[in-house]
Amino acid sequence: MSRQKDDWYPTPPAATKALLDVEGFGHEIWEPACGDGAISKLLDDWGFKSISTDLNDYSYGKSGVDFLLESQRLADSIVTNPPYRLATDFIHHAITLGVTNTPGCYVYHSLKA
Ligand SMILES: C[S@@+](CC[C@H](N)C(=O)[O-])C[C@H]1O[C@@H](n2cnc3c(N)ncnc32)[C@H](O)[C@@H]1O
Repeated sequence: MSRQKDDWYPTPPAATKALLDVEGFGHEIWEPACGDGAISKLLDDWGFKSISTDLNDYSYGKSGVDFLLESQRLADSIVTNPPYRLATDFIHHAITLGVTNTPGCYVYHSLKA
């Protein structure tokens, strides 16, 4: 089965809600692989301020931003669902940038796809 370019698989709202129910985040949250904003929009709905970037252009957030090449942290917290094959790299890079929330990534949806 062929995969979407750069593993673009939007996250179902229930997965993001489940995370927000159990994990605490600062007011500003960086979504560095935002896709079409599936996570970012829900974060905003919950009262957070999302800062959205992505390598590709899905008409949402700022495109052309390779998270793994970023040297500046755009928010203290990061919530994202990265491409499955880059999940470990994303976590390591988030730690390098000094995010304050527990580093982790959604992998369920990418695994399922
Ligand atoms: C599984 S999709 C998830 C999209 C969105 N985070 C969501 O949960 O709905 C993975 C996203 O990672 C983006 N992406 C892939 N490589 C990237 C990179 N190096 N830096 C930033 N974004 C990247 C893709 O363009 C795609 O939008």
